[in-house]
Amino acid sequence: MIEHATASETNTADIHDPLLAWRREFPILAHTTYMISHSLGPMPLRAQAALREFTETWATRGIRAWEEGWWEMPLTCGDLIGSIIGAPRGRIVMHQNVSICQAMVVSCFDWNGERNKLVTDGLNFPSNDYIYHGLERQGAEIVSVASPDGMTVPVESILEAIDERTQLVSISHVAFRSSFVQDLAAITERAHAVGAYLVADLYQSAGILPLDVTALGLDFATGGSVKWLLGGPGAGYLYVRPGLDAKLQPVATGWAAHAHPFEFRGGPIEYAEDMHRFLNGTPNVPAMYSARSGYEIVNEIGVAAIRAKSVRQTERLIALADAAGISVRSPRDPDVRGGTIILDVADGREVTAELGRRQILVDYRPGAGIRIAPHFYTSDDEVEHTVREIVAITRT
Ligand SMILES: Cc1ncc(COP(=O)(O)O)c(C=O)c1O
Repeated sequence: MIEHATASETNTADIHDPLLAWRREFPILAHTTYMISHSLGPMPLRAQAALREFTETWATRGIRAWEEGWWEMPLTCGDLIGSIIGAPRGRIVMHQNVSICQAMVVSCFDWNGERNKLVTDGLNFPSNDYIYHGLERQGAEIVSVASPDGMTVPVESILEAIDERTQLVSISHVAFRSSFVQDLAAITERAHAVGAYLVADLYQSAGILPLDVTALGLDFATGGSVKWLLGGPGAGYLYVRPGLDAKLQPVATGWAAHAHPFEFRGGPIEYAEDMHRFLNGTPNVPAMYSARSGYEIVNEIGVAAIRAKSVRQTERLIALADAAGISVRSPRDPDVRGGTIILDVADGREVTAELGRRQILVDYRPGAGIRIAPHFYTSDDEVEHTVREIVAITRT
């Protein structure tokens, strides 16, 4: 039973929806319509237990905890994401956030030679842009392929921008502003054809969109845990394609990336042979305890089931918006739409604040609109409730 609805109001689809049993795992859902997992997913009860396990381990095992699991956590925790995004075991390391992972990726390349071009899509996340433009000081040429409508970037424009001088192509798989899904397969193929590498930011796709980094042939992927993966802050991840290791020497590094970190040798680094070479310093252990719970839940449910429900509910959101005369700023074709729907209403920021006062959590992005994200725990009642309240607020 959905907390805010009476039996007579409950949608038939809700009664038959097995995923709603997961609501008990997320305490905030008892009193809040939580439509904001594109920004910060709700806390699972398991995360609370995991954080207790962290403090208990620290309290009872002390420094022994490093060799009893903590030191390897950036890789063991990464494996839980690997099974969500199709990465082989041992190919993902955890870092604090995407910004660090992206800085690490670009630090693997020289930017002052003939091949100095970085092609990025105009809907990439600002952090990534900031990091790329910083490379101009080293001689890089940054080509940002503009979005003609603020919502999409035509794949043809990106393909055209990639040439023999391109070192790296950076694509946001699902745009945070519009939920547009970019064609990673076509762009990766083109990048490889000219000898360039590709990094994909999966933050807005992993956990809500089925995805296979191995089948796509991605060279690098970055993402984090606060959103669809329900892991809380402080746990970003970096994937690197098997076989690339030997060639790559990230300048952004640290002692944990050394082949023999506990020999504490000075001088130039001797990189670890495997994914450890993409570590830097002391890992963010409590964040990984917390994040693991979210990955486990997404693995248990399976992304295919999450996506099927997400498509159904985002279609419903669009239909309700259309019926209310609200402009939709996300793609209408579900094949190129992620898990968020953006609705453009007058005074969107104020409407968002009022929704919050009514216990409906969404967010607002300038130039886009109100971002609304159902996830596997969302009832159809809540989808309808959200649009009903937006309509009521805009009318007053
Ligand atoms: C697509 C995308 N990339 C990157 C980020 C930010 O990543 P981080 O804060 O982990 O650096 C966000 C979210 O805020 C995002 O939506």
